[in-house]
Amino acid sequence: MARPKILITRRWPETVERRLAGRYDAVFNPGDQPLDAAELGAALRDHDALCPTVSDVIDAAVLENARGGAAKVIGNYGVGVNHIDLEAARALGLVVTNTPGVLTDATAELAMLLVLMAARRAGEGERELRAGGWPGWRPTHNVGTQVTGATLGLIGYGRIAQAMARMAHDGFGMRILYNSRRRVSAEIEAETGAEFHPEVDSLLAEADFVSLHCPGGPETFHLIDERRLGLMKPTAFLINTARGPVVDEAALARALEDRRIAGAGLDVYEAEPAVQPALLTLNNVVLLPHLGSATDQSRTAMGMKVADNLDAFFEGRDPPDRIV
Ligand code: DGY
Repeated sequence: MARPKILITRRWPETVERRLAGRYDAVFNPGDQPLDAAELGAALRDHDALCPTVSDVIDAAVLENARGGAAKVIGNYGVGVNHIDLEAARALGLVVTNTPGVLTDATAELAMLLVLMAARRAGEGERELRAGGWPGWRPTHNVGTQVTGATLGLIGYGRIAQAMARMAHDGFGMRILYNSRRRVSAEIEAETGAEFHPEVDSLLAEADFVSLHCPGGPETFHLIDERRLGLMKPTAFLINTARGPVVDEAALARALEDRRIAGAGLDVYEAEPAVQPALLTLNNVVLLPHLGSATDQSRTAMGMKVADNLDAFFEGRDPPDRIV
């Protein structure tokens, strides 16, 4: 039987590419250039499977352009799938899979890193030192905010938020509040030391650090807007490792500039890879380039999960991480 034809849109860890090349008629992207809409449509028409990432926008138009083509399955490299129009994929009879579970700790670590960097003004201090501007120790230099014992408010309480809660609670003695569409079990609340807040607004008013962990998409678009930024304490910090459009970036830049909140730590942006120019000029925001899952362990495991899903699909089994 002919080997299924698959197309991988970006460079993946070498061990994963080798595994895929051994099993499939695989097309890779050695130049690692993002594909445009026309190229994504063509890839779906000409291959049995497409393996995209968060940088590939597979909207209804791209999928319509591929109607009647060869693609049967989209094996997304990543847990978030807001870049894929799932309803349009379903309507075309495509199976869609993702990679949950294997980037949980990596992303929680990065959220914790942003808490620490923003609170302790780490980026600012490092920039000063590298620029040769550090005059030496003094009591009033680069004074930040202590994280230990502070209150962390989590919006969304899935795997990543729960992992962050454990790190923050067990490692830093933080009080944990959370808001999510569904309250988790009493066992999870007890194990992660978390208190449920039915309202986003009251959580924002109480937390010293607010960390976002809800999915992207229309339901959470600009969940954190000008009004909600206004509910935060002037001493509080906003952390976003979820999806850029959850935060109104222009409103956040204004709040940071006017010191209506103390600071922010961002790993995701509304129009990646573009970043709101005003944010680039501010010292009270830490800006990372979407590194949440960027550990050797997670990025390899994500690729292996895509391969497991494809193997299951092409062997006639239900893919373990099927979402559509
Ligand atoms: C994810 O898995 O959703 C990460 O943000 C990378 O896409």
